Amino acid sequence: MFKKISLPTSKKETYELLITSLKELISNDDCIMSILANTTSLIKYFLKGVSWVGFYLYVDNRLKLGPFQGLPACTTIEIGRGVCGSAFEKEQTIIVKDVRKHTNHIACDADTKSEIVVPLKVNNKMYGVLDLDSYQLARFTKTDQYYLEIVCNIVSQILSTLM
Ligand code: SME
Repeated sequence: MFKKISLPTSKKETYELLITSLKELISNDDCIMSILANTTSLIKYFLKGVSWVGFYLYVDNRLKLGPFQGLPACTTIEIGRGVCGSAFEKEQTIIVKDVRKHTNHIACDADTKSEIVVPLKVNNKMYGVLDLDSYQLARFTKTDQYYLEIVCNIVSQILSTLM
């Protein structure tokens, strides 16, 4: 059973707790979809100011909506399109501080103001991306990038044992 805890105020401590909880929650799971679903749930629980978090997974040469938390979202994203498709193509994290100033952005929720997309590689091959949105401008920083890349590495290591 998942135990709710009082959340620290500092970003660093919050992410460290998130990472400890993530390892406990997913390391003994043997189902890829459950692992991805619980990862999005933990991120939504721990991080303040996140309106949407989810995975887009590489299926049939494009990205398809995977497990997520938040409002319904775009189901298909072509490689290179939007922040998700660009992060996937470049195999690099992209932080968008103001989506209105970013030409290659796909709006799934008109209230979204900022976004971060982190690549998810399994066995050194692009598997999908982790996408977080916020209704706040410039919600995501290099600190978020640092820790969310660790989150994706943990997920990647566990997924690699199941494929
Ligand atoms: N904004 C993303 C699309 C996915 S939604 O934010 C959930 C993009 O530009 O790729």
